[in-house]
Amino acid sequence: MHTVTVDFGSSASTIRSRGYTIHVGPGLIDRAGELMAAVGLRRQAVIITDTTVGALHAARLQRSLAAAGFQATILESPAGEEQKSLDAAALLYSDLTALYAERTTPIVALGGGVIGDLAGFVAATYMRGVPLVQVPTTILAQGDSSIGGKVAVNHGNLKNKIGAFYQPALTISDVTTLSTLSPRATSDGLAEIIKHGMILDSALFEYLENHMSEIRSLDATALERIIENSARLKARVVERDELDLGPRNILNYGHTVGHAVESVSGLKVWHGEAVAIGMVAEASIARRLGILDQDAVSRLTALLHSAGLPTSLPALDPADLFAAMQHDKKVTQGKLQFALPASVGTVIVIDNVDTAVVKQALVVSDANP
Ligand SMILES: NC(=O)c1ccc[n+]([C@@H]2O[C@H](COP(=O)([O-])OP(=O)(O)OC[C@H]3O[C@@H](n4cnc5c(N)ncnc54)[C@H](O)[C@@H]3O)[C@@H](O)[C@H]2O)c1
Ligand SMILES: [Zn+2]
Repeated sequence: MHTVTVDFGSSASTIRSRGYTIHVGPGLIDRAGELMAAVGLRRQAVIITDTTVGALHAARLQRSLAAAGFQATILESPAGEEQKSLDAAALLYSDLTALYAERTTPIVALGGGVIGDLAGFVAATYMRGVPLVQVPTTILAQGDSSIGGKVAVNHGNLKNKIGAFYQPALTISDVTTLSTLSPRATSDGLAEIIKHGMILDSALFEYLENHMSEIRSLDATALERIIENSARLKARVVERDELDLGPRNILNYGHTVGHAVESVSGLKVWHGEAVAIGMVAEASIARRLGILDQDAVSRLTALLHSAGLPTSLPALDPADLFAAMQHDKKVTQGKLQFALPASVGTVIVIDNVDTAVVKQALVVSDANP
């Protein structure tokens, strides 16, 4: 088992330093109760999950909690992005009230990023906040979304519009839960890990280049290595910028174009897939600006291919993509801000990228890398 600590230091209003631990390893669901008791959580607990993950993993989690003295109830929402809504949160508030959940009752979020965001939002708001334990079960959630304290629901078509920054008391990433993921979900989750390698850590990038077949066959040792590495990299960034006021911008690499791809495709392209396409397009912007060399762009494209991710999307109209990007981002006097890789493992934020360069890079295809 590996642990990553996330430490936000102390502030005037909190004398004790504020931080928590992320545990990464095989079989940790069976130790969840013990790990929760070790951080001072007691008695009643509520597991919030979706129907798919609930059927696969909730009973084991409930047994582990019972063995440590918790009385744990399971609440299930249907699976899917549509459940990240105020309506779904309202149903959960009613269930929590019916269970007489108190301010000390921990909510245990068992699932992918959707459950992490929804149950996390409920934990942040029910009775002005109850303890949150994240038990992520997708590669995306273990390597990225469960770290950083962003919890949210969507508002109509607007993603993550209603939310909060709310740090968990504890995060438990059991890599053996990933063995039930579909091949598409596996590839999708690898995109953000590749992103962390591309902008922050050339050694992680090289490890991914050399071990992709073990990773895609869900080898627990390889998964533990990349998830722990990815979680640590993200933790170091969010520690410096808990409320996303500046330094976290570097994590947007691939997302300016990626969000446009997601919305123009009508969410048919999944988040990680869209970020993969976005990373190639934005690497191409960096190359056109003379920041990144062609060799790095080729390595990125090859790694994304080997992960089973798309790198081009000729079916989408570049004009539609550009229009969607303008909705998402402020264009100031024909200029846009991008976080761009400067080499494999380093990143810089450029404030004044010319829209003409962006439009050229949106014709993303293997023939126009
Ligand atoms: N809070 C953040 O910082 C942050 C960052 C990135 C993404 N997100 C959010 O994360 C969400 C996407 O997360 P996701 O990709 O994990 O999607 P998801 O939670 O919808 O999970 C994908 C599917 O896999 C199923 N599933 C989950 N774990 C499984 C397992 N172990 N075995 C089999 N099936 C399993 C789920 O039931 C679901 O159908 C989006 O809503 C996105 O906005 C949040
Ligand atoms: Zn993302």
